[in-house]
Amino acid sequence: MSKIDFEALAQEFKTPLYVYDLDYMKSQYKALKSAFEGEKSLICYAIKANSNLSVIQTFAKEGSGADCVSIGEVKRALKAGIQPYKIIFSGVGKSDEEIKEALNLKILMINVESEAELKRVEAVAKEMKIEARISIRVNPNVDPKTHPYISTGLNENKFGVEIDLAKRMYIYAKNSSNLEPVGIHFHIGSQLTDLSPIKEAAEIVADLVRSLRAIDVDIRFFDVGGGLGVVYDNEKPIDLKEYANAIKSAIRGLDLTIVCEPGRFLVANGGYLLTKVLYEKYNGEKRFVIVDGAMNDLLRPSLYNAYHKIEVLGKENEKNLSKADIVGPICESGDFLAKDVELPPMQSGDLIVVKSAGAYGFSMASNYNTRPRAAEVACEDGECRLVRKRESFEDLIKLEELYLKE
Ligand code: LLP
Repeated sequence: MSKIDFEALAQEFKTPLYVYDLDYMKSQYKALKSAFEGEKSLICYAIKANSNLSVIQTFAKEGSGADCVSIGEVKRALKAGIQPYKIIFSGVGKSDEEIKEALNLKILMINVESEAELKRVEAVAKEMKIEARISIRVNPNVDPKTHPYISTGLNENKFGVEIDLAKRMYIYAKNSSNLEPVGIHFHIGSQLTDLSPIKEAAEIVADLVRSLRAIDVDIRFFDVGGGLGVVYDNEKPIDLKEYANAIKSAIRGLDLTIVCEPGRFLVANGGYLLTKVLYEKYNGEKRFVIVDGAMNDLLRPSLYNAYHKIEVLGKENEKNLSKADIVGPICESGDFLAKDVELPPMQSGDLIVVKSAGAYGFSMASNYNTRPRAAEVACEDGECRLVRKRESFEDLIKLEELYLKE
């Protein structure tokens, strides 16, 4: 655990509260960057994992690029100081307006995910009388061996295009005066702890680059997506040097810039959700600890049955533990932050720290049950600052109008 004073932060900013350790996030960035030392490489932080501007800014200062899946994310990246020429725009369903805006902003490349989209990008670029830099997301059809909801590299998933179609699309793009194919992309899934599927996918896609080179399609960026797994419980993450070496060896002989798009790896274990105990209750034998944080704050346990380690501040050494579910106030049986955790007797006001909450935590938060989203605090060099205010009731209704005016 870092040296952040969670008690003091909870006191000052109230709960539920997200706390980010920017020093940790920076050190993750540096570790990954240095694994690629000696290669041309660009890390494009996957904004979706944690879209807080101060978090993005931390990576921008390190020289990071951004992987974005909406024009909103592109604008966040720019606002936080990421250079346009380091921004990639991906996603299976971009609208014409989004494509146009992305082209206007002169980002590095638009990552195309279907033949129909390629034609749309071409049409928009033609209208603008420009050439659109593109990459194509290839679906290498390998099993990433992760949770089915976060697995993306199989034909049964909606992402990317098959190798043969990708090849035809590259040829089409090369012959179009409004398309410039500069990159190739794959992303097989998230929270990967096994290197072999990444290696296999990299080799398949590198072979495609070789065959494209043979017909003069000059790919320069080899984008291996994100997906590096982290420790939530007792997972064994992929060794960074082995990861980098696997990619390097797949593209040996090809002069390519390696792009990777980590989200979770950079931020998951640098984020904490602080929540306070409201009550305890028993339904028969079953023990529940009811807290002020809920599935609208952190959806991962409810959505993926994801495990997040729990710590009860100040009660780490207590004996007399018994199993309980930690649940929120939302009207859903699926509203829980942890199940069957061994907890000491709890009092109202006890502070619980939900760990590994920096990735897909706040960014997946909602206002379900008219709950304002939590505040966010960021810490760097021993100093912590509020970087996003807690929403108010007024914030939640400000875009609404009563149908019947008085
Ligand atoms: N690049 C692409 C094209 C992606 O689709 C994703 C994540 C990433 C990069 C970043 O992946 P990461 O390095 O974070 O694994 N909400 C889920 C995770 C969804 C991931 C979606 N795509 C969760 O909470 O586990």
